Amino acid sequence: MNDTIISLSHINKSFHQNPVLTDVSLSFDKGEVHSIVGENGAGKSTLTKILCGVIKQDSGTICFEGENIDFKNVSQAQALGIRMVYQELFLMKDLTIAQNIFIGREIKKGFFIDDEAMNQKCQELFDEYDMDLKPYTPVKELSIAQMQMVEILKNVSQEVKVLVLDEPTTALSSKEVDDLFLMIEKLKAKGVSLIYISHKLDEILRISDKISVLRDGNIVDTLSKEEANRAKIIQMMIGRAITWTVKEKSEVKENAPIVLNVKKMESRKLHKISFDLKQGEILGFAGLMGSGRTEVARAIFGADRVRALEIEKDGKVIDIHSPKDAIEHGICYLSEDRKQFGLFLDHSIYANEVISSLDNNTKFMLLDDKVMMEKAEKYKDELNIKYPSILSKMESLSGGNQQKCIIARWLLKDADIFIFDEPTKGIDIGAKSEIYSKIKELVQLGKSIILISSELEEITQLCDRVAVMREGSISKILDISEASQENIMKYAVRNAQ
Ligand SMILES: Nc1ncnc2c1ncn2[C@@H]1O[C@H](COP(=O)(O)OP(=O)(O)OP(=O)(O)O)[C@@H](O)[C@H]1O
Ligand SMILES: [Mg+2]
Repeated sequence: MNDTIISLSHINKSFHQNPVLTDVSLSFDKGEVHSIVGENGAGKSTLTKILCGVIKQDSGTICFEGENIDFKNVSQAQALGIRMVYQELFLMKDLTIAQNIFIGREIKKGFFIDDEAMNQKCQELFDEYDMDLKPYTPVKELSIAQMQMVEILKNVSQEVKVLVLDEPTTALSSKEVDDLFLMIEKLKAKGVSLIYISHKLDEILRISDKISVLRDGNIVDTLSKEEANRAKIIQMMIGRAITWTVKEKSEVKENAPIVLNVKKMESRKLHKISFDLKQGEILGFAGLMGSGRTEVARAIFGADRVRALEIEKDGKVIDIHSPKDAIEHGICYLSEDRKQFGLFLDHSIYANEVISSLDNNTKFMLLDDKVMMEKAEKYKDELNIKYPSILSKMESLSGGNQQKCIIARWLLKDADIFIFDEPTKGIDIGAKSEIYSKIKELVQLGKSIILISSELEEITQLCDRVAVMREGSISKILDISEASQENIMKYAVRNAQ
């Protein structure tokens, strides 16, 4: 019996003469999780957008339940039960969870929207998928992770046969990933086919029945669960092996001066945060999601007001009331939420990269465009950023390549202290190791780094010390020699000590 629900044959797609998918043929079976992996810009999102009628292929066919289909638009695919949860969220933040889930198909009583009925239906969904949320909570009060779950729920609450999840776990904690995987298992049991995209290979290996590797717009191969392993996938994805090395001991010079001293930071969410940072040091901030790591970064950067805070830079007390003040004092911050605080999608890659370093590149009060352009172009190769021209709009880049451009922005800025908040979110495994080398280069130049990361592998590879946060406080600062993953988790979780 043929179990295929949807298949692609000989699909080609180019954007402005740049081929993105070349002769791609792939089929997806009923009730299976079929993952697609590949480097940033390999064509994963494009492929799935074609499957869901969001964009149209230049040539090739799509066959759904045995019939060739020529999608005119997304609604046509949705009507057949083909749905996609995008890399970026599309929720109305001022509406409640229930209103978001039923958006465009509101339940009505006469002419009026029946909120009560929608809340009840929504609660039934929460019960079915074991979710601890309230239907009437406004979406703006949710964490990014909860918003992600609502977005998924919005799709599964409707007729669904094929569900595409494009990097659904970038903002989820490990507990929430477990919840999502339970949801996926339930959907699978109902016969739904899931197409799953992620850069997190451990998740891919855990959840997939099949794994297809996409490289520069070509399918390299499809592996079964039994055939697949981490090394094999990496080799197929990027054509070389990647080795991770754990840092055994601190590499900070013994007499390195303290460049940043943060004292008694206090806010609604943070309690008595004090720590210092030495020149040439990478100080990690580990902890569960919501433990307050981003709040610490935003307070130092002047993005949020805090009740009490004393900051000394190079031994002198400084006042930071806004990000502008922080940047003037040589402190820069790469936000974890690039869509909200960083990207100008409508502008060129060039503008996005140089926007924060204009004052470093003026000659006789004029912007030195040529020098800036050269500097910005340099990162195309160094970070392996895929774009046709540096003057292309940011919105035409793949998710991971946008993130690399934001990293390039801060590398272009001649700052002393870099705060990187989840810098490799959505970045493929090959590019990750390139970003790690860049971070190491920065400290060799005498810069200092605060690295917030949920990936313990990233922390143990790069950091000299690790501040572990728990419920708004620093529960322990560990030297890297004692910062095993187990030890970090011990201080991150209450009652685990
Ligand atoms: N609307 C567009 N206009 C021009 N180029 C585009 C457009 N959409 C995608 N591209 C290009 O197509 C290529 C593939 O992009 P796609 O988003 O499919 O990659 P991806 O595999 O999903 O990468 P990531 O892991 O970074 O999300 C990229 O080089 C991207 O710049
Ligand atoms: Mg993508």
